[in-house]
Amino acid sequence: MKTKTAFICQECGYASAKWIGRCPECESWNSLVEEVHREQKTRGRASSVEVFSKPERLADVKACDELRVTTGLSELDHVLGGGIVRGSVILIGGAPGIGKSTLLLQVCTALSAKDKKVLYISAEESAQQTKMRADRLGHAGKELYIVSETNLDVIFEHIKKIAPDIIIADSVQVLYLDDISSAAGSVSQVRECAARLTMLAKNSGMAVFLVGHVTKEGSLAGPRVLEHLVDSVLYFEGESHTSFRILRAVKNRFGSTNEIGIFEMTASGLQEVVNPSQMFLTERPEHTPGSAVVATMEGSRPLLVEIQALVSPTNFGLPRRRTTGIDFNRVSLLIAVLEKRCHYALQTQDVFVNVAGGVKVVEPAVDLAAVAAIASSLKEKPIAGGDIIFGEVGLGGEVRAVSHAVQRINEAKKLGFQRIILPRNNLKLAQEALKKTTITLLGVSTVTEAMEAVFG
Ligand code: TYD
Ligand code: MG
Repeated sequence: MKTKTAFICQECGYASAKWIGRCPECESWNSLVEEVHREQKTRGRASSVEVFSKPERLADVKACDELRVTTGLSELDHVLGGGIVRGSVILIGGAPGIGKSTLLLQVCTALSAKDKKVLYISAEESAQQTKMRADRLGHAGKELYIVSETNLDVIFEHIKKIAPDIIIADSVQVLYLDDISSAAGSVSQVRECAARLTMLAKNSGMAVFLVGHVTKEGSLAGPRVLEHLVDSVLYFEGESHTSFRILRAVKNRFGSTNEIGIFEMTASGLQEVVNPSQMFLTERPEHTPGSAVVATMEGSRPLLVEIQALVSPTNFGLPRRRTTGIDFNRVSLLIAVLEKRCHYALQTQDVFVNVAGGVKVVEPAVDLAAVAAIASSLKEKPIAGGDIIFGEVGLGGEVRAVSHAVQRINEAKKLGFQRIILPRNNLKLAQEALKKTTITLLGVSTVTEAMEAVFG
């Protein structure tokens, strides 16, 4: 057989016959690497798949009885949409050291304690190292198997012998197949290993967790090629200097996306955070200008977070704008709205906006709170401690209605807030839904009105 080579983009898997400096698919520079292609192998495999599959009437397909297995980690179950689905493949991505192995080892111990058979493929650490860690994380059942192995063919032998219910491959980037000549971690290896494990999951009903490290740029190495292959993609996020970790579903075939789970890293592993809103507000400064609390939605859950702004005179040249946890362009737009519609002199001011606690807010519903925080810092007037602000801001300075207003209000009520400044168009429905409520609801329709409501 004549060996053919192709240049494969290590970011997205794009294949080219000759080397090029920039991938035309994902536009990353210098990411193409020459790899050996063995066409016949793939063709042979494709035909064997055809033999196995057989079209059935949808009405005749039986949904399995015990479709979901709960892991015992309530936050993870929530993110997955209610537990692990039989035969599903879940990719967990995150920066090195964020706690992926810890989380999955906790899943292993919890599941094995429920008499599930679990195989943990610890490809990066030895069995002894894993054992030491597992001992700290809880009491494992007797059906938890650990193997330190990177050759996928050998791993498949083990799987055949043990026949586990759940397989964890930590990490997929160090697994390799002998019949692919490129190095472990290259796109062809990662894609093929993941594809084989996926096929195994679909044919056998075993659930498979794949661990993937993300690169500096924030994409999983060989990432997009894996994302479409698997059923769910979860990202583990968090600042290395804080102990809070957020697990976010960016894709989920068996539940809604954008769901988050919040954990805290402790000496005995990851603990679920039961009341995240309270946690994000514990360090909130009192009577300090530039701090506003917003009720944002993370998937189906309301979450209260603090938005902080600092406005200070520009020393020289162009005013600076910096943001963390909130979109930079969105903040620039909101600053322009404040300048143009409310005549605030921000042209000569540096503006810094930060979301406390390392969370990222992406919803437009946080606009009004960001505007209020900036205005508060500029005026040197604090926002009342019992106020919650939410609403989308339009370019005309209008405040637009947002979704899930009632859930946001209920979360605020639960944490003892007294007053809510919200879009006027949300007010009527909210009042109907919350008939006799002690909380004050203030509907506003423009930013100017909102600023009057906040600062009196
Ligand atoms: P790890 O799960 O090894 O990260 P990953 O697999 O994502 O690379 O997490 C390692 C970090 O977690 C390490 O810095 C130590 C910390 N840790 C704790 O704080 N408590 C614990 O109980 C464990 C097991 C780890
Ligand atoms: Mg690890």
